Amino acid sequence: MATITSHSPAETFAQGRALAASLRAGDILALDGDLGAGKTHFVKGIAAGLGCEGDVTSPTFTLVHEYTAGRLPLFHFDFYRLESADEVLRIGLDDYLGVGGVIVIEWAGKFPALLPAGTRWFHLRAGDGDTREIEEVQRA
Ligand SMILES: Nc1ncnc2c1ncn2[C@@H]1O[C@H](COP(=O)(O)OP(=O)(O)O)[C@@H](O)[C@H]1O
Ligand SMILES: [Mg+2]
Repeated sequence: MATITSHSPAETFAQGRALAASLRAGDILALDGDLGAGKTHFVKGIAAGLGCEGDVTSPTFTLVHEYTAGRLPLFHFDFYRLESADEVLRIGLDDYLGVGGVIVIEWAGKFPALLPAGTRWFHLRAGDGDTREIEEVQRA
């Protein structure tokens, strides 16, 4: 995926939905970008693209939302409120990595060392007005 310019929340959603078509079990997507950059809209599109629309999120978890009604299970994490790598380990990221679903992590750049090689990184950036750039970046 090259850099894409989105002009509306719906377009960001549609980009996530389009990306979902190519996702396979075990894929890990790491999203970075400031508050309001569109990360959550992008994830909602991914969920829709996997067929998870209307799925109920588990109220048991505050740091991971599980969408299990689609083509592949989607585990949606957000590191925003986490302050240490220890906390990430405590929510069981490692367990999810082995399940064979798709993992998407907002604010992944806070703890990049916890993510395995092969993780795909996306940077989202707010521009003028409703413009948002979505860029897939190569990261070692
Ligand atoms: N092109 C766009 N793509 C996504 N969100 C947009 C866009 N233009 C405006 N917005 C607004 O920006 C905010 C993005 O919120 P959200 O997806 O929760 O971002 P994040 O998860 O990165 O904090 C929403 O209020 C949305 O309506
Ligand atoms: Mg968000």
